[in-house]
Amino acid sequence: MPSASVQEFLHDLLQQLGPACLKTDPSLISGHLVDWRGRYQGRASAVLFPDSTQQVAQMVRLASKHRVGLVPQGGNTGLTGASVPDDSGEQLVLSLSRLQAIRAVDQANKTMTLEAGVTLAKAQEQAEALGLLFPLTLPSRGSATIGGNLATNCGGTAVLRYGNARALCLGLEVVTASGDIWSGLRGLRKDNTGYDLRDLFIGSEGTLGVITAAVLALSPRPAALMTALAKVSSVESAVGLLGLAQSKAAAQLTGFELMTWSSLDLVSQYFPALAQPIKGMGSADLVLLEISSPSGEAEAVALLEDILSRALEAKLVEDALVAQSIQQAQTFWDIRDHITLASSEDGHQIKHDIGLPISCIPEFMTAMRQELQDLLPGVRIINFGHIGDGNLHYNVACPVRPESWADRGQRQKACADFMHAHEDEIHRRVHDRVVSLGGSISAEHGLGVMRRDEAAYYKGPVEIGLMRAIKISLDPLNILNPGKVVLV
Ligand code: FAD
Ligand code: LAC
Ligand code: ZN
Repeated sequence: MPSASVQEFLHDLLQQLGPACLKTDPSLISGHLVDWRGRYQGRASAVLFPDSTQQVAQMVRLASKHRVGLVPQGGNTGLTGASVPDDSGEQLVLSLSRLQAIRAVDQANKTMTLEAGVTLAKAQEQAEALGLLFPLTLPSRGSATIGGNLATNCGGTAVLRYGNARALCLGLEVVTASGDIWSGLRGLRKDNTGYDLRDLFIGSEGTLGVITAAVLALSPRPAALMTALAKVSSVESAVGLLGLAQSKAAAQLTGFELMTWSSLDLVSQYFPALAQPIKGMGSADLVLLEISSPSGEAEAVALLEDILSRALEAKLVEDALVAQSIQQAQTFWDIRDHITLASSEDGHQIKHDIGLPISCIPEFMTAMRQELQDLLPGVRIINFGHIGDGNLHYNVACPVRPESWADRGQRQKACADFMHAHEDEIHRRVHDRVVSLGGSISAEHGLGVMRRDEAAYYKGPVEIGLMRAIKISLDPLNILNPGKVVLV
């Protein structure tokens, strides 16, 4: 039974906006209460579905009046438990999924203004229809929304060339915690008029305001994008290959992803058809390189071949496969994009989303592997990600127990048991080493609830104090996504 304040909130909401603005049927809302990984299960008596910025504002005003916490939610693909309510039953989910309008496009200014619930895939298609490129891209683009992308300041596989979500947003419309609407939908690349509110809301994970629309910056569309897979014998070689590729391709290098053998092995096990292109490459770590060309496929392929032949000569690479068509290039990306899905099929892992100076990555990987193997012999390190910008998904999975592995239930239970037994210790060891090398404990996924206390542990009182001061000043009643990012 929800508390009196939640009941009064729902009563007022129904009176003001009618029944279309929310759902309460447990079978219809259950998917909104658990995160993508199935790691955080929340409780809530309703999910709110506003159809306009004005309705969002009305809902937040009522929440403020009744002191009810609201959890903004986009595609619910977040990986830190930030998009679901806690288990108190006292919070409600505020889904932005009905805010779907393309409000404006400005071809000459290379911008488009979209509402928060538009998926990233749809935003990419919209840019393509204008003959332009919205370069942000993530494996979850089919479900993740522009509002969620900005609220998490997500990264993805094109950060190396185009930057993260923050770099691709020029303006925002935000409903504040008091239910006011801030109209900051400016399409300006230069605007130095005081504190940057846009930058404050971007990456705030729904704790400071509800993003309802955004002006996105578009880029010229390259004539071709082409990819190659390179077999590397060590992470030092991967870093060497990055330097070589950058020196030859400069800004034409648009993707540089590491896929260690343990990650590729998961894709081979759970998506064998997708793994066909790498069958002949043995049990090796691979780098996926992507080159863009303003003139066409032939130039992109030639540039890739030049980089790879130099890398073979310098013994940075042992073998390579250059895609010969756009379709083949997509098959390489499909392997990369399925690592997280294959991991989820395997079972729970102890997840890290670390950022390191690229120069420190080899030292980190060698020492960390040794430390983890000494601690838990046979442990699997599922390490992959955006090595071109220093961001690795350094995930730790339980040793395989072959006799029971074919049974999904037993496998998932073994993985979950391992995660619960070891995650605190492994987080501490991995994060201690990352921080000692000047790195970050969350490069792109954010803090949410999963890394909130870790961040407080490493950041120290001054930085956490400033973060708290911002939260208290913008959301004094702690209405927006309470309990996420920083405790107040
Ligand atoms: P949600 O999960 O719904 O919400 C995430 C956070 O944003 C929550 O704090 C929520 O409260 C807040 N929020 C959502 N919408 C709003 C809004 N309109 N206003 C205010 N706050 C809001 N992330 C990366 O950075 N890089 C990757 O490469 C990447 N790959 C992924 C691959 C897979 C298979 C999956 C499942 C996830 C991946 N992610 C990645 C994580 C996730 O997709 C991103 O964080 C994405 O930006 C979340 O968008 P969403 O719409 O699903 O947001
Ligand atoms: C990826 C997610 C896990 O890069 O961020 O696939
Ligand atoms: Zn990632």
